[in-house]
Amino acid sequence: MTDDLSRVLAPDPVEPADAVEGSLRPRTLAEYIGQREVKANLSVLLEAARGRHEPADHVLLYGPPGLGKTTLATIIARELGVSVRYTSGPAVERPGDLAAILTALDEGDVLFIDEIHRLNRAVEEILYPAMEDFALDVMIGKGPSARSLRLSLKPFTVVGATTRAGRISSPLRDRFGATYRLDFYTDLELTEIVVRSAGIIGVEIDLAAAEAIARRGRGTPRIVNRLLKRVRDHAQVHGDGRVHLAAVIDAMQMLEIDDEGLDSTDRKLLAAIIQKFASGPVGVAALAAVLAEEVETIEDVYEPFLLRLGFIDRTPQGRIATDLARAHLARRGFEIPTPRRAEPDMPGLWEDSTNGGARA
Ligand code: ADE
Repeated sequence: MTDDLSRVLAPDPVEPADAVEGSLRPRTLAEYIGQREVKANLSVLLEAARGRHEPADHVLLYGPPGLGKTTLATIIARELGVSVRYTSGPAVERPGDLAAILTALDEGDVLFIDEIHRLNRAVEEILYPAMEDFALDVMIGKGPSARSLRLSLKPFTVVGATTRAGRISSPLRDRFGATYRLDFYTDLELTEIVVRSAGIIGVEIDLAAAEAIARRGRGTPRIVNRLLKRVRDHAQVHGDGRVHLAAVIDAMQMLEIDDEGLDSTDRKLLAAIIQKFASGPVGVAALAAVLAEEVETIEDVYEPFLLRLGFIDRTPQGRIATDLARAHLARRGFEIPTPRRAEPDMPGLWEDSTNGGARA
């Protein structure tokens, strides 16, 4: 691989620090727990492509981080018996970077583009004909004598991933034959994942402990797998290495993760809305400034789960903290000033409007 190409292509989806997480990733659709509808649809798409001996249609995966987008891209390639190349929107800076990646693909390969919404305009424009016609339009020369030369590429499949489909330009979105939204996992699915992962890393765990980890996993496999490893450490250092409920409770207390899976940053975010902005509404930029976080991190990493728990709501005027959030923090000793806004007079309707109410 040339230096240029290795700069834009990740050698592997798994960074060294994530090697264990990598080994916990399911390798086939059959091993993959959760996302039932996505799996059912993907399985038809893949079987049809295999039957026609053609590359699969381009697939766009969207949803909060940690729900399995990279894993699914890897599974897609594996199920098709092809290689997968990993890159990301910010890594591909110039059209030439993308051209180098595309010309190095073999017939039918999968090209995974993480954070695809962050591709710049010039790169996106190279991607359109590449996805649509497997063609690379190269400009030769400059000024009035410049002309475009069309090179053909071997057919391939783009698997794009983004935290929010709305961030992708509509011409790019239109080039995907299939778009799947990944949703938070249920506690039951996460329990199954914890038990499976414990088996892989060789740690003995009882059901109550697995359920307790799942409940604090914010609907996210990446998080439950991380928590499992911390609890395993705790059980090894303070116990006999076996993971029981008590080890989970102790480890979570040390990690400052509460019963709903919120960590100190989540609580700071809620506390900021409740205490500094009288429960809101507050704009996300003001919130980001108070917390010294990026707007994008708040929107993509923290908010989705708080919305799902019903702890915050998005209104046209900004974010508000709900009664549930105030009660959650009050139980943990936070001071709760009176909210600025009047409470809506139909609380049931209000709470169910955007977050689906209770936990899954
Ligand atoms: N490990 C991480 N994500 C998983 C999933 N969806 N199914 C099984 N194991 C996993």
